[in-house]
Amino acid sequence: SGRVALTLLPAERTVRVPPGVTVFDGASWNGVAIDSTCGGHGTCKKCKVRITSGSVPVSRLDARAFTAEQLRDGWRLACLAQATGDLTVDVPPLLTRPKAATVGVGRQVILRPAVQKRYVELDEPTLADQRTDLDRVLAAVDDLDLTADLYAIRRLPRVLRESDYRVTAVVVDETLVDVEPGDTRERLFGIAYDLGTTTVVATLLDLGTGTPAAVASQLNKQQPFGGDVITRISATMLDPAALGRLTSAAHETLAELAAEVCAEAGVDPREVYEVALAGNATMTALALGVDPEPLGVAPFVMSCAVPPVVPAAELGLALHPGARVTIFPALGAYVGGDIVAGVLATGMDRDKRLRLFVDVGTNCEIVLGDGERIVSTAAPAGPAFEGGAIRCGMRAADGAIETVRVDPAEGAVTLGVIGDVAAAGLCGSGLVDAVAELVKAGLLDASGRFVTDEAAAAATPRLAERLTKIGDERVFMLSETVYLSQRDVRELQFAKAAIATGWSLLLEEFGAAPGDVAQVLLAGSFGSYLSPAAAIRIGLVPKLPVLRIVSAGNVAGEGAKMALLSRREREGALALREEVRYLELSDRADFNDKFVDQLAFPQ
Ligand code: FES
Repeated sequence: SGRVALTLLPAERTVRVPPGVTVFDGASWNGVAIDSTCGGHGTCKKCKVRITSGSVPVSRLDARAFTAEQLRDGWRLACLAQATGDLTVDVPPLLTRPKAATVGVGRQVILRPAVQKRYVELDEPTLADQRTDLDRVLAAVDDLDLTADLYAIRRLPRVLRESDYRVTAVVVDETLVDVEPGDTRERLFGIAYDLGTTTVVATLLDLGTGTPAAVASQLNKQQPFGGDVITRISATMLDPAALGRLTSAAHETLAELAAEVCAEAGVDPREVYEVALAGNATMTALALGVDPEPLGVAPFVMSCAVPPVVPAAELGLALHPGARVTIFPALGAYVGGDIVAGVLATGMDRDKRLRLFVDVGTNCEIVLGDGERIVSTAAPAGPAFEGGAIRCGMRAADGAIETVRVDPAEGAVTLGVIGDVAAAGLCGSGLVDAVAELVKAGLLDASGRFVTDEAAAAATPRLAERLTKIGDERVFMLSETVYLSQRDVRELQFAKAAIATGWSLLLEEFGAAPGDVAQVLLAGSFGSYLSPAAAIRIGLVPKLPVLRIVSAGNVAGEGAKMALLSRREREGALALREEVRYLELSDRADFNDKFVDQLAFPQ
């Protein structure tokens, strides 16, 4: 089956998630908050929702949490309710202002944002009390050590006097950034960005409650300069004006998304006081207007690993004048801030189990941790997963085949196509599915070759006629026009072998075997949508029981949210720089042999 549609009421937001994802995760990844104090672990019984269409079996805990009548009405605990088919779910409003929020993969974050609002009622000045406006405010908020932004100083005389000395002080870290008339404590927002090479996602967070107020995404406007980081770095090397244009394109993307989420949630951009941004090293450099050239050529050096905190205006954002941007630090030129955010969001640094994190993309980042040690590496997987170098390849957009099921007995090929349109091409998850299914059906052998016509006719007579030739090349026709070619299969083999070489070398570092891995987290805009069964079948992940392979969602964005919600988590991201060891693969003598070993499909 392909992805399933999860419609969340009353927001009427429909999201498409891989089957098996819980309602709780699907909702929270997409900006709909469900009550919880346990973080989705099935212990708090707060995540009550009502399934209004589609079916979810009653779990043991549901039977304890609800009456028989409620169960008949469709009430379920969201963190146990798996979406195996299309569902419509009514989500009750949050009753209490939570002190903690659930983000990432079951991470509970105690709300302690860097932005704080304090409402104060001041004594009016008199001839006997000529303290400055600033001292009056600082004394009232009980923190005389704060420094004040010029903007706040400019606002003081008028705002204090026009609001009868009843004001809200806005403090970010150790700085007074504003005084606002009256009590505005309820209005406190931040934007978390996942600045991807392909797609950029913005989440507007209510920092008072920890809940997302709106989510929006769009293609990175740097697309015309090339699909991956290398082509964009090359653009800056070929044309001195390109860096400026790439920087502007990033800023426009970020600004449009900010405007969109604010409009959707009815939030004035001036009520956004903080921004967190996670991106790979190249995207981060380009957004900051830093020359990325050294990132693209050996020995792959970053200008800095921990970018400075900058005013939002430096990224082209018109938010509160005092808003600052925290940018995730990077571990290396090819293990960037997006991965640090992902490690934070998945708790790779805390979990005692042996866990493998794989962000699948053109450049594939791999992290292995067991709570004691964390090691990371980057594997050059090439463009196959983005649909590049694939004959009928395309991005995951309308018309893309995203799932493939082959039934050799019935002779049926069932395609899941994005949007309500005819199949136009094959996106990365469809490519992985197609190859996995054809291996299973016996039409591709373990070495990745299409079997002979005779062998095909013997294996599955009803499908054999789809195995044909276009020009000199053998192909399998998935639809009338979309096919999988022999060369496409090779491209995928190269991509998955690079990844498998990466994780097998990391496992070697730990002295562990593939079967020891307790959990594989598939992350990133592509990895999250990969079918775990297909990933196992082609050998992209270790051969494990399928339940150990988990779609982790947009973990970079989740890490950015955590940084906004909690100063402690933000410091945790910095600490990861010390904790995670980076292993360079490209200079290893044994890389090629291992790579060749990993080309075949597992038996
Ligand atoms: Fe706590 Fe579901 S989130 S029981």
